Amino acid sequence: MGDTLYRIYLCGGSTCTPRGRDALLRALEDELWAQRLDDRVDVRVSGCQDRCDYAPNLTIWPGPYHYSQLTPAAVREIVQQHLGQGQPVAAWLSSEAERR
Ligand code: FES
Repeated sequence: MGDTLYRIYLCGGSTCTPRGRDALLRALEDELWAQRLDDRVDVRVSGCQDRCDYAPNLTIWPGPYHYSQLTPAAVREIVQQHLGQGQPVAAWLSSEAERR
């Protein structure tokens, strides 16, 4: 087992969950496995991340990097670029205006 490189909190709050939380979790786990990152990344489901207007959301540490309005395709891109290559994916990051 390698050291954990990243920890991901996928929002499991009451707004994000019906907007695709389960599909995002499947995409996340599938892509981590495909990229052979599954033993280097710790995935957890969190409570509400206080950005419900931009659901569904996830947060990556070290960071935090806040990603919003996600789709399964976006999650795969984030795994490949951010987790695989260390390059956060600007297109899916929350803007400052979206943060409270
Ligand atoms: S339920 Fe996900 S940010 Fe509130």
